[in-house]
Amino acid sequence: MNKERIIGILNEAVEREIGAVFQYMGQHYRFPKKTHPIAREMLERIAVEEMKHIEAFSKRIVALGGQESIKSSKVIWETDFSKMIKLDMAIEDEAIAMYKRHIAICEEEGDTETKAIYEDILADEERHHKLFAEIKKILEEGIEG
Ligand SMILES: [Fe+2]
Ligand SMILES: [Fe+2]
Repeated sequence: MNKERIIGILNEAVEREIGAVFQYMGQHYRFPKKTHPIAREMLERIAVEEMKHIEAFSKRIVALGGQESIKSSKVIWETDFSKMIKLDMAIEDEAIAMYKRHIAICEEEGDTETKAIYEDILADEERHHKLFAEIKKILEEGIEG
């Protein structure tokens, strides 16, 4: 197994997750409590899950003898609520595609432990994508806001 290669992909993932935390948490407190309680609450919960992803990936990096990144991927600040959620769906789509590629690399390297971490997190990202689609519907239908 090429440890450096695995540490490299894990750090790419960590940076994505750090970006997602900032993005979703920043959106969380931009949604007013009074008019958008559901979107506000969901964004905070998803941000906390992304933080747990940083933890899982970083722990694995350290276990492999590497150094975890503390850099963030690009964060895009949107002010329009509907645009924010569309952006979040795109972010989840990108994460899903990246983690699938990373799972294939874990297979190539015969790293079943890292692969299992990616599979758990991939399932979360697929769920997040569905949740953002729900939030988008709520916003479009004027259920809140
Ligand atoms: Fe994540
Ligand atoms: Fe996610």
